Amino acid sequence: MSEIDVTFMYAVHDAFQRDLERLAAMAEGGDASGAAVEAGWERFKAFLHVHHTAEDTHLWPVLRAKGASPAVLDRMEDEHAGLEALLDAVGGAVAAGAAEQLADAARLLADELGDHCEHEEQDALPLVKELLTVQEWKAFGAEQRHQVGSPAMFFPWLLDGADPGMRRRVFDAVPPPVRVLHRFVWSPRYRRAPRWHAPLSA
Ligand SMILES: [Fe+2]
Repeated sequence: MSEIDVTFMYAVHDAFQRDLERLAAMAEGGDASGAAVEAGWERFKAFLHVHHTAEDTHLWPVLRAKGASPAVLDRMEDEHAGLEALLDAVGGAVAAGAAEQLADAARLLADELGDHCEHEEQDALPLVKELLTVQEWKAFGAEQRHQVGSPAMFFPWLLDGADPGMRRRVFDAVPPPVRVLHRFVWSPRYRRAPRWHAPLSA
């Protein structure tokens, strides 16, 4: 079906939120330094940067050229820019290994990023569906894949903690070998690597 499939947009937004929830919970438990905290932060920053850069270069300008609401697009760009200071605050707390500071900064970032993703889903995705061609949408996806490079870490990160419905939708949207690679190679490797863990009560 030649329709725009926004599965990955929702999956990525969910993964960002899940990640920050884990970071905040770890910091609240006094865990603010070490390989897992640092590796998780580097991974989160890299994937968020890829996602927002691709939106800034391959989504908002394309929609703007097609006459989409400037107010919505301005807000998307402003919100991206506004997150930088909060990202810096989390980065500073990670570098300092300061648990209380990290917990506060991670919660603030989680709130702001959560609001931004919600605005995007409510206000920008309808414009995407209305105005973008399937090719333009695929070019946005291809740009993210290009910037991510190997999917070996991205895929298990994306699906770590995703509910069964989302997992199914993601696997339905990719070529079948991805599921096999994920199960037997990428996911086991990801699970052995330092990363943020879900709180025990979750
Ligand atoms: Fe997004």
